Amino acid sequence: MTAKRLDGIKGCVFDAYGTLFDFNSAVAHCRDVLGDRADALSRIWREKQLQYTWLRSLMGRHEDFWQVTGDALDYAMKSLAIDDKSLRDRLMSLYQTLAAFPDAVPMLQRLKAGGLKTAILSNGTPDMLLAAVKATGIDRLLDAVLSIEEAGVYKPHPSVYQIALDSLALAAPEVAFVSSNAWDAHGASAFGMKVIWCNRYGQGREMLPGAPDVELTTLADIPAILGLPR
Ligand code: 2OP
Repeated sequence: MTAKRLDGIKGCVFDAYGTLFDFNSAVAHCRDVLGDRADALSRIWREKQLQYTWLRSLMGRHEDFWQVTGDALDYAMKSLAIDDKSLRDRLMSLYQTLAAFPDAVPMLQRLKAGGLKTAILSNGTPDMLLAAVKATGIDRLLDAVLSIEEAGVYKPHPSVYQIALDSLALAAPEVAFVSSNAWDAHGASAFGMKVIWCNRYGQGREMLPGAPDVELTTLADIPAILGLPR
């Protein structure tokens, strides 16, 4: 059973893609062209995007998330025999302004009203993240928008989570890290943060170091977990 309350939290740090922003919303805008291949394309695109971040970090061959996202899309389109440069360009453009999940803004508003510090910590490049937070208005609800580019290595390397502590001037136990990506939740937990896993995708528990302190299925429950009114 996971905890029902986290005490002593002064800041909430959020993963971006999959947690605040819906990476499936890019393909969703192109269903007219993709038809029944849309779901497979979005799934393969996301899987390869993450695999390439992990592999590049292990290889010591860093390229930023925009490059990796494009490479992953190229792989996904080729795997489904989709050869359409205009569609590729349209999907990459859509990826810059992904839809925010409906539970994101109301929850952030409650956290700010409750006096918490808030930030994004993401694999995304600074430009990608700036475009995403401005397109959704979330920029007004964050104290910081942080990219792994400062560390030059992808999550779940510990140096990435340290960026958030340095930016917010908080100690690890004072921070609740929120992610929908189980492996990311384990990474932040192993680093020493308190972790809320928003299990949007029905993922199973990973056999990795660390463990989420709280498992939810919606961001709307976070204020209550932190002792704030919903
Ligand atoms: C992010 O860093 C893991 O893609 C996810 O935003």
